[in-house]
Amino acid sequence: QRSFIVSSPGKTILFGEHAVVYGATALAASISLRTYCRIEPNEKPEITVKMQDIETNHSFPLESLPWDIVPPKDVLHPPNTLNNEIVTALEKLLINEKNNVLNYLSMLCIIYLYLQIGSPNQGCIITINSEVPLGAGLGSSATVSVGVATCLLLFFGFIQPPKEGEDYSRHESLTLIENWSFIGECCIQGSPSGIDNAAATHGGLIAFRKSTAKTTVMKQFLTLENPLSVLITDTKQPKSTKELIQKVCRLREGSPLIVDSIFQTIDGISRSAIQALESETDVRRLREILGQLIFINQKMLEALNVSHITIDRVIDATKAIGPTKLTGAGGGGCTITLRNNDCSNEMFENAITKLNSFKNSVYDSLLGGPG
Ligand code: PMV
Repeated sequence: QRSFIVSSPGKTILFGEHAVVYGATALAASISLRTYCRIEPNEKPEITVKMQDIETNHSFPLESLPWDIVPPKDVLHPPNTLNNEIVTALEKLLINEKNNVLNYLSMLCIIYLYLQIGSPNQGCIITINSEVPLGAGLGSSATVSVGVATCLLLFFGFIQPPKEGEDYSRHESLTLIENWSFIGECCIQGSPSGIDNAAATHGGLIAFRKSTAKTTVMKQFLTLENPLSVLITDTKQPKSTKELIQKVCRLREGSPLIVDSIFQTIDGISRSAIQALESETDVRRLREILGQLIFINQKMLEALNVSHITIDRVIDATKAIGPTKLTGAGGGGCTITLRNNDCSNEMFENAITKLNSFKNSVYDSLLGGPG
């Protein structure tokens, strides 16, 4: 049995959050912050999970897992929904973890995937370390799902690691990883759209649109000729994605014509961004176009009432360096700032000093890096 280390990137939504829930186009990009996941053989017949970031170190004897209710293994054809019987059995197994939600959900994801991909006869140790801040809307849970799914598929021999010099970027193993990580995300997020685990698997830029019936999803992979860097600021203001989605829903119920036209505008913003990314070869001009779109998208999100005073503060502090918008659900969480072409190092440093004085965490990240 060999050991493997894999890593996967967090994501940021560049354009289209909230409107995407109602069928508009959104654009997500992988960022430089990554989660690292290691799998190694366990001498004991146990699965041991170590997550340094949330101070977890737990072992489960393999014989305590509900193997009897797991349907016959078909690892190469992942399901697209959760098996409720397995979830109920794992809820019982993990009852003592329930007071620590992050720990509980991560365990649910890991053991659920282990039951489907792993074996009752071979224990392993899974160690996870993450640079992606938890619960900040940067897709941390998807990085865990992708890392664990990849480690298990490698460890149990369903996929092979890339050979020296091999281009893995459109490798067929990635579809298997994406589909299993979607199942892991379902354990953590309930009913995710699939954009986070797609970004964490493939990296790069992904255009995304789902029908309002939420049954079909359109995904388009874009390639970025020149890397674009953004500043990601974590306001540290806790937010609830679910509540913010409900808030937009209520606003729409009250003023359907107006809110639908905002969604249409946001769809136009995402499409204009895609067009620019596909055709604009002058990186300065590309920054200019994307900057204008960031500015307008933020105004639309403010109109939807999902911005927050902590986000306004970041917008103000970063004014001199470039346009800023919230990313993800809003109500706090993270923002992204695209640097203007004429942003000097001094302007940049001043903005960072201001942001640090608010106790925000700031990350300088390249967009669209590898999966
Ligand atoms: O904050 P996050 O990363 O959970 O992003 C939520 C994005 C929404 O558009 C508000 C919801 C969704 O499922 O697309």
